[in-house]
Amino acid sequence: MNVTEQRLREHVDRLAEEHPPIELDSVDYTVRAPGPFEERFGHVLDYMARVELEVDRNVLELAAMLPDPPEIDRHFYADVWQPQEIRHGLILDRLQVELGRPPAETNLDTVGFKLRLLGALGRHHGFQDVCRMLYYLTGMATERSAVLAYNLLHAGVEEMGEQAVAQTVIAPIKRQEPGHYAFYQLSARLHWSRLAGWQRWLVRRMRTISFAPVGANTPRQLAEFGELMETLRITQAVDDFAARVSMVERELLWAGRQGLRVPTYVARAFRDAVDQAVANRQVA
Ligand SMILES: [Fe+2]
Ligand SMILES: [Fe+2]
Repeated sequence: MNVTEQRLREHVDRLAEEHPPIELDSVDYTVRAPGPFEERFGHVLDYMARVELEVDRNVLELAAMLPDPPEIDRHFYADVWQPQEIRHGLILDRLQVELGRPPAETNLDTVGFKLRLLGALGRHHGFQDVCRMLYYLTGMATERSAVLAYNLLHAGVEEMGEQAVAQTVIAPIKRQEPGHYAFYQLSARLHWSRLAGWQRWLVRRMRTISFAPVGANTPRQLAEFGELMETLRITQAVDDFAARVSMVERELLWAGRQGLRVPTYVARAFRDAVDQAVANRQVA
């Protein structure tokens, strides 16, 4: 085991020990002004609850795409990540129901054709390593988006004076996200260093054609993500947000491109979300 592998193992053990899933009865759902709170943040809670609850599908997708994962990956997603994320989803969903909204509509069991195809091709070992890299890159972008979004949501909830929600819902959730990001970042760096030239080339190609903001699998969801960006005031600084989400991805995949601040496909995807939200509002 080399130094990075050792660090990864210690990191996962520490997460398991220091971050048990949030206790459901530690949460105080008291909202002082439910009307204005729902109006401003209801849709953000819904989006985040859905994405968090859909980790159950992500686990199935992972099994289809990477049928034979390294022990450390399995340990992370089965013993640490999935149990934590499910609680995040249950808590956020309960909060939106308390506000009078319907629960999130989740898709928990449809593993897409693309992923099943990747899984089939993945029986070829060299290709499975490409899939693993895509998995770590997706994990990194997703968790980094979560860290940034929960920070902004926490600030907004405090600004509205909703202390119970800020302190017992958003703060405990946002504390667990950086550890997930760190896992994917360490894994991505380690794995990238092992890939051959043709594998790196394929990772760049596949990432370029498949990148999407977290949870945005349909045009409607992309528009909803655009609305979330608007409410969390990300829209005013889209490229900055895109740059922060993809910082390590740019460093690893695009090191040869001097002066490139954000991978083009990342910047484009976030701008598309904003445009899609504007277009949908005009139709409505
Ligand atoms: Fe989460
Ligand atoms: Fe997470």
